[in-house]
Amino acid sequence: MSETTNLPIDKVRANFPSLSTTDEGQRRIYFDNAAGTQVPKQTIDRIVDFFHRFNSNTGVFNPTSVEVDALYADATKAMADFLGTDDPGEVLIGANMTTLTYQLSRSLAHRFEPGDEIIISRMEHEGNVTPWLQMAEDNGLTVKWLEFDRDSWRVEPALLEPLLNDRTRLLALNYASNLTGGVNDVKTLTGMAQAAGAIVYVDAVQFASHRLIDVVDLGCDFLACSPYKFYGPHIGVVFGKRAILEALHAYKLRCATDELPLRFSLGTPAFELIAGLMGTLEYFQWVAAEVGISGDRRQQFEGAYAAMGAHEDALSERLLAGLLAMPGLSLQGARTLKDRVATFSFTHDRHPASEIAQQLSAEGVYCHWGDNYAFEVARALALDPHEGVLRLGLGHYNTLREVDEALASIEQVLAG
Ligand SMILES: Cc1ncc(COP(=O)(O)O)c(C=O)c1O
Repeated sequence: MSETTNLPIDKVRANFPSLSTTDEGQRRIYFDNAAGTQVPKQTIDRIVDFFHRFNSNTGVFNPTSVEVDALYADATKAMADFLGTDDPGEVLIGANMTTLTYQLSRSLAHRFEPGDEIIISRMEHEGNVTPWLQMAEDNGLTVKWLEFDRDSWRVEPALLEPLLNDRTRLLALNYASNLTGGVNDVKTLTGMAQAAGAIVYVDAVQFASHRLIDVVDLGCDFLACSPYKFYGPHIGVVFGKRAILEALHAYKLRCATDELPLRFSLGTPAFELIAGLMGTLEYFQWVAAEVGISGDRRQQFEGAYAAMGAHEDALSERLLAGLLAMPGLSLQGARTLKDRVATFSFTHDRHPASEIAQQLSAEGVYCHWGDNYAFEVARALALDPHEGVLRLGLGHYNTLREVDEALASIEQVLAG
């Protein structure tokens, strides 16, 4: 069991071969999960199995091809359950969040007229900024920036209200910041933007690692996530409402299908990675069974995420308390667990982030530094443009012992 919750942490860790890999004998503490997580055996086995048994393209009668068709259908169904929609046609799979967002921005531009307005929140990773800025530039649209509140570390509805009018066409909104960890009330903000007639495009890349998404409850029109941030392979997934996807101008080859979701699939998909995604989703079902949750697949995902989230919260509490006690350290994010995920960034009054990162990495405490592509956030916080923050991103396979060891290393580096 985990020291604090019912997550069987030793069994969980045994599922991830890379957790016991060392660097010349030195153990690794993976606190770089906000940049990408490790994958369980279920994911690896699925990828290997794909190449052993049914490596093929789709759409013909060869038994391998029939299996690939079935795999694609199964994966979109499983991802639909994961995202909370019952329509697999609403699940677009592509190279990564950024590529899919660029592709959809090109399509969405057809719905907008010069002089129309789009709103981009300042909490975004560039993946949910530059595609829209370039779309606006190409099509004569006006861009409005939606600030985040420096006390709550989130976008408050009162900040959105004055930006909305009858020319507002799009809101690009972050679910959880990959720099501050702040979580937005996407449901409320979505409702407000849609009431003004806007489409809402949510970046849930950072959120999906920590909490289960429910696109129907949120009501958003699009929502992007990246399986490599939630224990899966390097692909991206975007949910889009069927009615919008069907009506949207699709940039696709003339002879390619008009059926969803493949209508927005460009070229041959990375089938082996889609097989890996199935493995990741099966891993969550395994976690659910381990903590005694049965029911349908969605209920299993809910059970797994509840257990993983409770464990992460316990780690976060310990990490937060330790960081906040360190002299000269400024946390760039909420000081409590309310409305945040387990992504923690800080600066120090004497040590630049790159120096801390280098020393921690040398001690086997994996971390990230810089603006982490949260370019607008870094600017809004007036961070050193060359240094940014030191970022620690926890995952459910981390342990309290790792938190303690990492804190000891950080303390030592900062005392130097
Ligand atoms: C919040 C957020 N959005 C978008 C991205 C970009 O995702 P991808 O690498 O799938 O394009 C990242 C990656 O770090 C992220 O953290």
